[in-house]
Amino acid sequence: MRSVTAETITEAFLGYFGDEVNPRTHQLMERLAHHVHEFAKEVELTHDEWRACIEFLTEVGNITTAERNEFVLLSDVLGLSSLVDMIHSDPHGTSSSVLGPFHISNPPRLPYGGDLKRDNDGELVLVQGRVVGPAGEPISGAELDIWQTATNGMYSSQDDAQDTFNFHGLMTTDESGRYAFTTVKPVPYTVPTDGPVGRILDATGRHPWRPSHLHVIARAQGFRTLVTEIFPDDDPYLDQDTVFGVRSDLVMRYQARAAAEFPDGMVLSGQVETAFEQVDFDLRLVAD
Ligand code: BEZ
Ligand code: FE
Repeated sequence: MRSVTAETITEAFLGYFGDEVNPRTHQLMERLAHHVHEFAKEVELTHDEWRACIEFLTEVGNITTAERNEFVLLSDVLGLSSLVDMIHSDPHGTSSSVLGPFHISNPPRLPYGGDLKRDNDGELVLVQGRVVGPAGEPISGAELDIWQTATNGMYSSQDDAQDTFNFHGLMTTDESGRYAFTTVKPVPYTVPTDGPVGRILDATGRHPWRPSHLHVIARAQGFRTLVTEIFPDDDPYLDQDTVFGVRSDLVMRYQARAAAEFPDGMVLSGQVETAFEQVDFDLRLVAD
């Protein structure tokens, strides 16, 4: 098209496509161009603003490494990561939630009743529950991949004082689909703010806090892998998670328990001399 105008540019873009474009690619690119063009027209994007966007994205690329992906963080704070989760979350199963950048593959295995706390500071918490299928049937042999921060709000990969796998563990459900482990009560923490995404938070008057949470990936043969999080119901940031990860079925009461109530069959059994908190959380998986 020779005399392209603001009215015809989206149509011209489409007209440049070849004949054999994959239908999904066609749909994604056509809709993307439509929304980007409409956005520029609606806000009357200036050259300075356009240049600032390009410089911003360049900075996001420059700061991104294998350990730190600023593009993912950008998607997280824009709500895009959570929106993709919501679109594909099955209402018959436990809600999914953001993976975040701090998952580490192949953490050490924990037995049933294993201990993630070890000699770390923090309030002792017993986390237990079952992994079940759509009709509530127990799933034995399901794998739970669990991770969280230490009480300083840092994941092991952010903190030289922690071992690589501190607060990372892998456990398998028993024949009744049960799991149990001890850990410390998670704390709220901030997403990284020292890069360009931090400037977006600043410019929009947003804080960088996430409510305290425990990350879980549940995998079982024949079921969809679930990436989710468990949040305590008394966290001050539950209604303002900067990455939009909270869902009501993921918010749990941490119940106060006396030392004498600590169950048998745990790795810590017999050593617990203090009160602890207990959270019961069942994970419901849907068929693959
Ligand atoms: C996290 O929960 O680990 C996380 C999620 C999104 C951005 C940063 C951290
Ligand atoms: Fe996290």
